[in-house]
Amino acid sequence: MASPLLLIMLVIIFSSNIIRSLSDPRATEAALVCTNKTSSQSDRQVYVASFLAAMDAISPLVARQGYGGVVNGTGNNTVYAFGECMKDLSQTDCNLCFAQCKTQILRCLPFQRLTRGGRLFYDGCYLRYDDYMFFNESLDAEDKTVCGVNDFGGNQSLFKANVAQLVRNMSVEAPKTDGFFKGFVNRGNLTVYGLAQCWEFVNGTSCEKCLKDSVSRIGSCPPKDEGRVLNAGCYLRYSTKKFYDNSSTTAPSGNGGGSRRVAIILAATFSAVAFLLILAFISFFAKKRVMKQKREKKQLGALLQTVNKSRLNISYETLERATDYFNNANKLGQGGSGSVYKGVLPNGQAVAVKRLFFNTTQWVDHFFNEVNLISGIQHKNLVQLLGCSITGPESLLVYEYVPNGSLHDHIFVKKNVQPLSWEDRYKIILGTAEGLAFLHEESKLRIIHRDIKLSNILVDESFTPKIADFGLARLFPEDKTHISTAIAGTLGYMAPEYVVRGKLTEKADVYSFGVLVIEVICGKRNNNAVSQNSFSVLQKAWKLYGTGKLGEAVEASLQGNFIIEEASRLLQIGLLCVQASAELRPSMSVVVKMLNNQHEIAQPTQPPFLNCSSSDISPLNRSGTPYFQSDSYTQSSGNDMTDSFIEAR
Ligand SMILES: *[C@@H]1O[C@H](CO)[C@@H](O)[C@H](O)[C@H]1NC(C)=O
Ligand SMILES: *[C@@H]1O[C@H](CO)[C@@H](O)[C@H](O)[C@H]1NC(C)=O
Ligand SMILES: *[C@@H]1O[C@H](CO)[C@@H](O)[C@H](O)[C@H]1NC(C)=O
Ligand SMILES: *[C@@H]1O[C@H](CO)[C@@H](O)[C@H](O)[C@H]1NC(C)=O
Ligand SMILES: *[C@@H]1O[C@H](CO)[C@@H](O)[C@H](O)[C@H]1NC(C)=O
Ligand SMILES: *[C@@H]1O[C@H](CO)[C@@H](O)[C@H](O)[C@H]1NC(C)=O
Ligand SMILES: *[C@@H]1O[C@H](CO)[C@@H](O)[C@H](O)[C@H]1NC(C)=O
Ligand SMILES: *[C@@H]1O[C@H](CO)[C@@H](O)[C@H](O)[C@H]1NC(C)=O
Ligand SMILES: *[C@@H]1O[C@H](CO)[C@@H](O)[C@H](O)[C@H]1NC(C)=O
Repeated sequence: MASPLLLIMLVIIFSSNIIRSLSDPRATEAALVCTNKTSSQSDRQVYVASFLAAMDAISPLVARQGYGGVVNGTGNNTVYAFGECMKDLSQTDCNLCFAQCKTQILRCLPFQRLTRGGRLFYDGCYLRYDDYMFFNESLDAEDKTVCGVNDFGGNQSLFKANVAQLVRNMSVEAPKTDGFFKGFVNRGNLTVYGLAQCWEFVNGTSCEKCLKDSVSRIGSCPPKDEGRVLNAGCYLRYSTKKFYDNSSTTAPSGNGGGSRRVAIILAATFSAVAFLLILAFISFFAKKRVMKQKREKKQLGALLQTVNKSRLNISYETLERATDYFNNANKLGQGGSGSVYKGVLPNGQAVAVKRLFFNTTQWVDHFFNEVNLISGIQHKNLVQLLGCSITGPESLLVYEYVPNGSLHDHIFVKKNVQPLSWEDRYKIILGTAEGLAFLHEESKLRIIHRDIKLSNILVDESFTPKIADFGLARLFPEDKTHISTAIAGTLGYMAPEYVVRGKLTEKADVYSFGVLVIEVICGKRNNNAVSQNSFSVLQKAWKLYGTGKLGEAVEASLQGNFIIEEASRLLQIGLLCVQASAELRPSMSVVVKMLNNQHEIAQPTQPPFLNCSSSDISPLNRSGTPYFQSDSYTQSSGNDMTDSFIEAR
């Protein structure tokens, strides 16, 4: 199994950029409308339950046919929900867009004030719920026109004329062609692109009416370079950018010439092969899982009771209230597996709540068992897992709140944080080593973290470091774990034997720790250096070590405020940890002893492994492909994780 896995992994690594450009779920928010109604007597609890049931039921419909309408509940507590993807999206993109849309519409969920309806327009998909049958509605009072921010730079009278022709044309063509039309108008060397779609249950007559209304209202947008009308029954958009088929293969062929075309074809072939491999992989395990599920379904009833009784199970409603309904103001950060919010529990305890993109309902038992085990691991240098919520509409993890941001913020972002003193850095390195030694050698589960990096080390008020996200890999089912975490690891931190052979031991963490030590002391990022055509920070440290001048590697801002011998010792330990041969790297408990002057520090004998972080491979956490994104649990914004799926588009 290992070698096909590795092949897939490598193919993904090398084609991640290409894959991104071939696929665009257009999960950009165009508008969210929550409707207030002081309406019929209904029981909020029951209404929310109907809402959640409707949301659960709608995804499989959308995944199967591209749209879906669901009714759940009775009497005044009936919820109507409708979702649809733009017809030009691939099934995968549709699923991605809709999954995003579904988590974001929770922002409308009825709470203090009675918001009984909500609609969320993404550029790739649409979701609406309400307390009445609206499926075939075409226009209503909540319809919105959203214009772009920037004026078009060129000939404006020509631009206006082209927009007018485009939208008029689309409003005529779409009702004739299954309620969907996309195209462009190019006159006078000025192209405007557009897309129009009526929702599935809106009949031809209503579709025409809806788009006609859109045309009249979108006329107010030019000279803005972008315009959208978001009606109850349809969506209309124009733009100077070619926002659909957004891929390198369909880029207008121009100055590129033959070699570029060959490159594009190669890239396309390559990524197609990658897709096929992934597909084969996924379907293999999907089949396996279906079999397993059937077996386990019987036992699940009893398990749910256990879950509900456990102190680890924190109700969705409690966490929702704790985070002020996942208010953006409480958002701490964003990683590949979900976003993190600050919250305050009813007993006053501050927590960090991680919203997982993954739905864990198919493997509640596994998930819960692991949460149970991991929450049992306690150490001053580990962020404690306090519990989870698995019976609500989304799966949530609840962690101890660590107030002072991540090392990434302190070392690289440096906004709104104190610069770290030499003493703080020493303390952080030692604490991190102790936390890792505990995970590897002392805890009852032998845990390899797999993703040690600056953004996964949080610090509290007194600069005690705490390792975040340990054991995360264990939370996801066996078959998925290897690949997702292999992909998740950030290249600059990955040990050579892990990158090349997929071989995973504690020594892979030791390698990442070594990179981290050198980064913390030198104040430089490992994975950026090479692409700037200079030496990587590891190589530089190795060079200085050879000439006996390690002190010169220390971050310039610390000059004069650190002890040279101490810095050289730390860097030497860092270099020991990044040796290419895993056997030569010390274990974490030995590292702790070395840091405490209780063990002799050996001479590193191998230069640092030259990682494959060359200029054409961006760090994987920037791949933009959410499933494979690095998983960070950063408690502050503005770091390299923020180009994530939700926020970036
Ligand atoms: C909904 O109610 C809130 C508070 O009562 C108000 O601020 C908001 O403007 C209302 N929104 C709409 C669409 O009526
Ligand atoms: C629904 O609400 C109306 C008031 O708006 C009330 O008269 C009616 O009894 C409610 N129906 C049910 C089944 O609760
Ligand atoms: C609403 O959803 C619940 C839970 O999925 C289901 O048991 C029930 O049958 C649904 N009701 C309707 C009217 O579809
Ligand atoms: C629109 O929906 C309502 C409620 O389901 C239904 O009574 C009506 O017949 C529908 N109209 C059309 C044209 O489908
Ligand atoms: C703008 O376009 C219109 C229509 O094509 C043309 O008549 C006019 O001369 C153009 N104006 C400029 C400044 O190019
Ligand atoms: C709309 O555009 C299509 C394709 O560009 C073209 O075939 C059609 O004639 C146009 N229709 C109108 C009414 O302009
Ligand atoms: C069309 O516009 C592009 C830039 O917008 C310009 O480079 C090109 O020369 C123009 N072509 C003609 C025929 O005007
Ligand atoms: C289309 O739907 C509208 C509103 O739902 C309805 O009034 C109209 O009769 C329908 N037309 C046809 C042809 O079904
Ligand atoms: C494709 O979409 C991205 C954002 O999703 C945008 O930045 C880029 O300019 C688009 N490319 C083209 C060719 O329109």
